[in-house]
Amino acid sequence: MDKNIIDNTARRLQGNEKIKILFVCLGNICRSPAAEGVFRAIAEENSMSGRFIADSAGTGGYHIGDLPDQRMRIHARRRGIELTHICRQVSESDFDEFDLIIGMDHNNLSNLHRIAPTPEAEQKIAPMAAWVDSALRFDHIPDPYYDGAEGFENVLDLLQNGCTNLFNSLK
Ligand code: 4NP
Repeated sequence: MDKNIIDNTARRLQGNEKIKILFVCLGNICRSPAAEGVFRAIAEENSMSGRFIADSAGTGGYHIGDLPDQRMRIHARRRGIELTHICRQVSESDFDEFDLIIGMDHNNLSNLHRIAPTPEAEQKIAPMAAWVDSALRFDHIPDPYYDGAEGFENVLDLLQNGCTNLFNSLK
């Protein structure tokens, strides 16, 4: 958790009528579509889906056009969340379209800084872990791709905690 990032982000976006958030990971088939689905579910539960747009993208292009990884879809469905995002790669124009661009790990974040077209655009980048306060040993959202079921459950737990804190700080 990073209180400075949380407060600065909330301050920067407080006047926005709508807040557009892009979640970014490497493949855009596990972590970021899950983050998008978890965040949207929280906004819906709080009858505030009109205030937010949540989307996701990947820094890599290996799975463009695919649905999320079947394992992530199954684990999310168990929590009542259907993941229907179609994989796409992050692009420079996302920095115009979105107010907040959230990377899942250090590699995603350094790639986002490389893609950002201007210093102002770079201000929109933040780590997902800044909003996570449930698990101090995680300073990023770990890639579950080569893990078993517990890896996917861990990602969903971290995202549920982080997206709840993100929502509460922005609503
Ligand atoms: P994600 O997980 O970044 O959370 O979507 C991955 C999915 C696929 C690959 C890597 C990470 N891949 O190398 O294909």
